[in-house]
Amino acid sequence: MAEAGNRITIALSKGRIFDETLPLLAAAGIVPQDDPEKSRKLILDTNHAEIKLVIVRASDVPTYVQYGAADLGVAGKDVLLEHEAGSNQGLYAPLDLNIGKCRMMVATREDFDYAAAVKRGARLNVATKYVQTAREHFAKKGMHVNLIKLYGSMELAPLTGLADAIVDLVSTGNTLKANKLIAVEEILPISSRLIVNRAALKLKRAAIQPMIEAFERAIKP
Ligand code: PRP
Repeated sequence: MAEAGNRITIALSKGRIFDETLPLLAAAGIVPQDDPEKSRKLILDTNHAEIKLVIVRASDVPTYVQYGAADLGVAGKDVLLEHEAGSNQGLYAPLDLNIGKCRMMVATREDFDYAAAVKRGARLNVATKYVQTAREHFAKKGMHVNLIKLYGSMELAPLTGLADAIVDLVSTGNTLKANKLIAVEEILPISSRLIVNRAALKLKRAAIQPMIEAFERAIKP
């Protein structure tokens, strides 16, 4: 029987983060026994009886780790910045895993003159899922904006007249292009971080510390 002190729960989201985390888990000798794309299970066994993976929404990963329901997790910088507004107390982010890379950008319709609107001090309507990051960005620029919270498909907002601009993640740029939008400003580069519950790190250091070190060695430049 595994001792309670050695039981480790890792929170991951499905999709790109899960796929790109697999090689890092493998480097720490951890292999999931199910594929979250094929299974409806939310708690996945691994090749170690005492290590489980929980599959949660990307934006819920910091919450699981903060409250200790998961000991470790992988979350995008975008998600962590939004969560920080709530408080990242109890969270330790020791590693930039250099996965899930993209950029947080301001984008508008191709025919919208963003530079001119900024110059004349226009009050823009900006739609985004990333309200905290957007608020901070425009405040730093001294711009007054109306932020409109959306939960998905931000690209639609400038096309329907809901907003003048959006703040969204851009990876290949294909989504912007397909919707006749252009990136007009970079807010910050994004990648995924390993996050660790601070109390768990103290109580289960013998199990967690070697994992962090194995992840660190496996990070690709
Ligand atoms: C992100 C983002 C864009 C798209 C950009 O959405 O919100 O819509 O990817 O990628 P591209 O530049 O390579 O086209 P994602 O697919 O992660 O889903 P989401 O809408 O749930 O965030």
